[in-house]
Amino acid sequence: MLYTGLLILHLLSVTLWLGGAVYERVFLVGNIRRLRGSGQELGLIRIMLSSEPFFLGITTALLLTGITMSVMSGGGFFHLNWLGFKQMVMVLVLFGFSLYIGPRMKAVKKSIRDVISLRPDDSERIHGQIASMTKGFDLIHLGVVVNIVLAVWKP
Ligand code: HEM
Repeated sequence: MLYTGLLILHLLSVTLWLGGAVYERVFLVGNIRRLRGSGQELGLIRIMLSSEPFFLGITTALLLTGITMSVMSGGGFFHLNWLGFKQMVMVLVLFGFSLYIGPRMKAVKKSIRDVISLRPDDSERIHGQIASMTKGFDLIHLGVVVNIVLAVWKP
């Protein structure tokens, strides 16, 4: 019963993560790029950055439910099987976020704090930072898809 509840929470977190990621990547990042240089992209950049607590909450729920289920099922940690690979992918995702995406996100936040409209040279720099953040996010989301395949296929 508890295990089923945890699995439902785990799956809910995965669904919210992927749904949020697709929305952010296609609609927010897509429109930020489309509005490049117009000065109107500032609001969308702020909306994009404000999703951080949402993704942190989901990641925490995914991790806590995954760890508890690994212990309850006796699946252990980092063995050379589908579960172990899923855990390794998740570690890479967490490192990727903290070491690559996090600092870039901080830099963008700092650049747009108290700014009402973007100056052209600031705009170029910020779009560059967002482009590299987006590359990092694409890799992380690829990791999520790999984990879904591993979890469903259980090779
Ligand atoms: C992005 C990360 C992750 C994704 C996308 C993901 C995805 C999934 C999916 C789709 C399932 C359902 C599989 C099924 O019932 O057929 C599942 C189950 C499970 N996941 Fe994850 N997972 C992730 C991270 C983790 C982590 C970090 C752990 C452990 C620390 C973990 C441990 C488990 C366990 C133990 C199950 C239950 C398997 C079973 O009882 O059949 N997951 N996961």
